[in-house]
Amino acid sequence: MTRSARIVVGVSGGIAAYKSCALIRSFTESGHQVRVIPTPSALEFVGRATFEALSGNPVHTGVFNDVPEVPHVRLGQEADLVVVAPATADLMARATSGRADDLLTATLLTARCPILFAPAMHTEMWEHPATVANVKTLRDRGVTVLEPSAGRLTGKDTGPGRLPEPEEIFAFGSLLLERSDAVPRDLEGKRIVVSAGGTREAVDPVRFLGNRSSGKQGYAIARLAAQRGARVTLISGITSGLPIPAAVDVEHVQSAAQMKQAVFKHSIDVDAVIMAAAVADFRPAEVAVAKIKKGADEPESIPLVRNDDILKGLVQARTSGELPGETVIVGFAAETGDENGSVLDHARDKLSRKGCDLLVVNAVGDGKAFEVDHNDGWILSNSGGESALEHGSKALMASRILDELGQLLRR
Ligand code: CTP
Repeated sequence: MTRSARIVVGVSGGIAAYKSCALIRSFTESGHQVRVIPTPSALEFVGRATFEALSGNPVHTGVFNDVPEVPHVRLGQEADLVVVAPATADLMARATSGRADDLLTATLLTARCPILFAPAMHTEMWEHPATVANVKTLRDRGVTVLEPSAGRLTGKDTGPGRLPEPEEIFAFGSLLLERSDAVPRDLEGKRIVVSAGGTREAVDPVRFLGNRSSGKQGYAIARLAAQRGARVTLISGITSGLPIPAAVDVEHVQSAAQMKQAVFKHSIDVDAVIMAAAVADFRPAEVAVAKIKKGADEPESIPLVRNDDILKGLVQARTSGELPGETVIVGFAAETGDENGSVLDHARDKLSRKGCDLLVVNAVGDGKAFEVDHNDGWILSNSGGESALEHGSKALMASRILDELGQLLRR
């Protein structure tokens, strides 16, 4: 979305409040107008001056400042998006019961735009039946409540309750601006494997053959599928240093052979496998044990051998009964048109060759698809369906892909 939106960033009182600064900065740098509304206890963690400097706007916690401006009603009414990060257990409890005892909760009551909560608290608080019930109520009312990350908390304890990375919260906020219904909980109970990123095929101990995949599309799918309720395992090849998505199990691999092993290991009993990784088709026939010296002569060529096609292998495993017959298998294709056919001609061909259920098609060339944040394309299905993916962020593409997948999984 290019338009400048009015965004309210609510901050409640937890140690993760400091991370809201990076989030506020991302929104302002994207050209949005940001109003920060901390709770009084959030100001125990981050000072008012920091929020005012980052947002370029005055910051208040109560409803009795600027009374003629009626901010407790106006800020919510005028907002295009409200993001609360971190959302503490207390803030969510107050929001659930419709309290309006500070400017943030009053704003939440008057807002009619998408609302995004990024919870952060100790695991015991997150898992307490009161919080579980509050999260459910908020979600039932249409609020997007993110699953927190698992990991190190404030003290020595670890577990679910960490604030998702600001980059991720920013991605979800931006997605809700593009599409307000992009994060339904329609994949609850589903198990999904997603592969993402590029592979590296070793030439010698220091060199490899790689590709330009950033992993952004696959990570966007994994991140969103988890927040739509699925249990997601991400098999990550090489990426451009993307943050690990919250609530996703990750296995890191490098080569196509490792990717194959990990994908098969995790796909034994899942509902869907999404092969978004850019897997190398070839690898050096032999990996030199010592670094290849440049020498005085022209370099020798490096013989290559073909890697197994993981996507095709998954389809074969399903046909042979090694994988359950109902596993939905999704492939990706990056295509260019040429004298033998258009992008879509080649893609249809690939869909029938690979035998997967859905094929996500991107047109490449002219800087499209690789290493960029926006994309477009089509989704082809093996039943002959064809839908255009409108131009948008990779998160928006992910939401359309998961819509199609969700439909297949509900059949
Ligand atoms: N893929 C795979 N294993 C490989 C290569 C690719 O599983 N060894 C998967 C990718 O993850 C993606 C799809 O296959 O889902 C892409 O198809 P691919 O045949 O790699 O496309 P191209 O390399 O573009 O094929 P071609 O050169 O035949 O157009």
